[in-house]
Amino acid sequence: EGRVVGHLALSPVTHESGAEGWFGLGPISAEPALQRQGVGGALIAEARRWLSDQGARGCILTGDPGYYPRHGFLPAPEHAPEAEPAEFFMVLPLAGDIPPGRFRFHPAFGA
Ligand SMILES: CC(C)(COP(=O)(O)OP(=O)(O)OC[C@H]1O[C@@H](n2cnc3c(N)ncnc32)[C@H](O)[C@@H]1OP(=O)(O)O)[C@@H](O)C(=O)NCCC(=O)NCCS
Repeated sequence: EGRVVGHLALSPVTHESGAEGWFGLGPISAEPALQRQGVGGALIAEARRWLSDQGARGCILTGDPGYYPRHGFLPAPEHAPEAEPAEFFMVLPLAGDIPPGRFRFHPAFGA
């Protein structure tokens, strides 16, 4: 009906091994009055489709471990960027394995 009801951002991330094709998910939000009606889940499903269309190897995020595993994200503290809370770090592999080592979000997230 012409209203923005949610938002999700994806951005390219880097990995200390030099592995390419990885993205970071976030932030994500749903209009408060419209939460718990599937907006967040639909945004994540659409992000997964977009990533697969790009041939992405996978997606990372820092977020609530009570929410994202239902969308396929797995806790991966050993891959967390330096200075990120490792217990909230998760990875969604889409093509192949997770390379050993740490990811880095775009420097803009540290600004
Ligand atoms: C997280 C968010 C995007 C989810 O959007 P949504 O449209 O409500 O999600 P959906 O309707 O697809 O899914 C709802 C389910 O997720 C669960 N859920 C939603 N937010 C949650 C959270 N922060 N932690 C744990 N579970 C959460 C709800 O319990 C609900 O499950 P239930 O109906 O079985 O109880 C939305 O709650 C939001 O905008 N939160 C504020 C912003 C935020 O915290 N963003 C994440 C960090 S960037």
